Amino acid sequence: MEKFNPDFLWGASSSAFQIEGGWNEDGKGESVADYNSFLYAGLQQADTKVASDFYHHYQEDISLMKELGLKVYRFSIAWSRIIPDGDGQVNQKGIDFYNKVIDCLIENGIEPFVTLYHFDLPLALVEKYNGWENRSCISAFRRYAQICFKEFGDRVKNWQVINEQNLMVRVDERLNMYHVEAKNKERVRAQMDYNMFVASAYVMQDCHKMVPNGKIGPAISSTMTYPASTKPLNVWAAKMNDNFKTNYALEMYCHGQYPGYYSNYLKKADILPSMQDQDEQVLRDAQPDFIAVNYYRTLVASYLPSDANHPFGTRKNDVDFDLYGYFKIEKNTNLSATEYGAQIDPMGLRIVLNEYYRQFRLPMIITENGLGTPDIMAKDGKIHDQYRINYLADHIKACYDAIQDGVKLIGYCPWSVMDLLSSHQGFKKRYGFIYVNRTDNDLKDLRRIPKDSFYWYQKVITNNGLVN
Ligand code: BG6
Repeated sequence: MEKFNPDFLWGASSSAFQIEGGWNEDGKGESVADYNSFLYAGLQQADTKVASDFYHHYQEDISLMKELGLKVYRFSIAWSRIIPDGDGQVNQKGIDFYNKVIDCLIENGIEPFVTLYHFDLPLALVEKYNGWENRSCISAFRRYAQICFKEFGDRVKNWQVINEQNLMVRVDERLNMYHVEAKNKERVRAQMDYNMFVASAYVMQDCHKMVPNGKIGPAISSTMTYPASTKPLNVWAAKMNDNFKTNYALEMYCHGQYPGYYSNYLKKADILPSMQDQDEQVLRDAQPDFIAVNYYRTLVASYLPSDANHPFGTRKNDVDFDLYGYFKIEKNTNLSATEYGAQIDPMGLRIVLNEYYRQFRLPMIITENGLGTPDIMAKDGKIHDQYRINYLADHIKACYDAIQDGVKLIGYCPWSVMDLLSSHQGFKKRYGFIYVNRTDNDLKDLRRIPKDSFYWYQKVITNNGLVN
């Protein structure tokens, strides 16, 4: 394998609620993620909401990032640290914290790549407006983003708007939708989704106006789907899974319009969101500079006939549901899977990168990709995570192949820079290059221990992509 372009952005990723801790310090407001994800992971007690405690360890952590050789660090700003109640007073201490982080990164030669919103909507906005259901949330997000552009835009040139809106909108926990009556859920979900698209469009335009040389784009959760067989209905099911889960969102971000299959679904299910006249223009005028791709696995689908009483069938669970009755998720017997069921598929990455580039012709950056597993510290006090090295090496090779296919891929930021709170399984499921010495119920000493994969990735970066 040849090397990558000399300017290829080798990086790593995290998100605020999963790494920072300091969840209520220095004026921070609570977010739906502080509330729900900790509850979900059995980490609800206040004194354990420290995640990896990056809030107090950021200098040490950034030194380790420098040692790792990162060129770019993709992280998120917690909206509720900047504006504790989402749309009220600005919290100077929150701004100060991110100024320190950004300056420290730059001093260490690492480019900051900032996500504005990664699953952590300020809880106060849910209490006031039911969050994204209400258009007040659009103006609140726009104001928050403008504050970030003004405060940090002199040093931060790469921005991501919303992390994985296409996945988040389907997970009730992320939007705090527990209290919405079942019969209204899909209508509320469609409205929230639409309002987020409008908010993203405004924010992309604001970034272009406010940040000199600023670049901004959406980050999508990518789960490419294979048909369970060559039966045409199964091929159709797989295509519709991708369309309904990912492509409709990409079309909205890039072309400012829902594709026909999606608006027809909304009409048929009688859940067409309420729209305002000016939205059409705003959505059309917003142009992303790149697409950020979060990729972990692929899926397999077979056709599932619709429930006669519902236009598109019923949902069974939050993530791998039988979407609108089009399909049923199957196992891929050709692939191995992690113990959490994610089917490992580097070739799938090459396929989706080609597919997105063919459709949208925008540069892409991978902002998440990684293997989540309960790493065990060996007797020698080290973490020998050869399985993670294998996973990452195969995916880096797939990136290289996609570039050879003609895809414009500008960087690779695996998940995650260090162990952090998994969105569903707490500290049981680790992804990092750096081990954080704590468990779900015991904070221990929070010591940072570089894993074998740390030293391996360091060499990959030094050698600009040579994986072995
Ligand atoms: C992505 C999210 O979908 O997957 C991250 O952007 C998340 O926040 C990651 O942590 C891995 O998922 P999980 O549930 O294993 O933490």
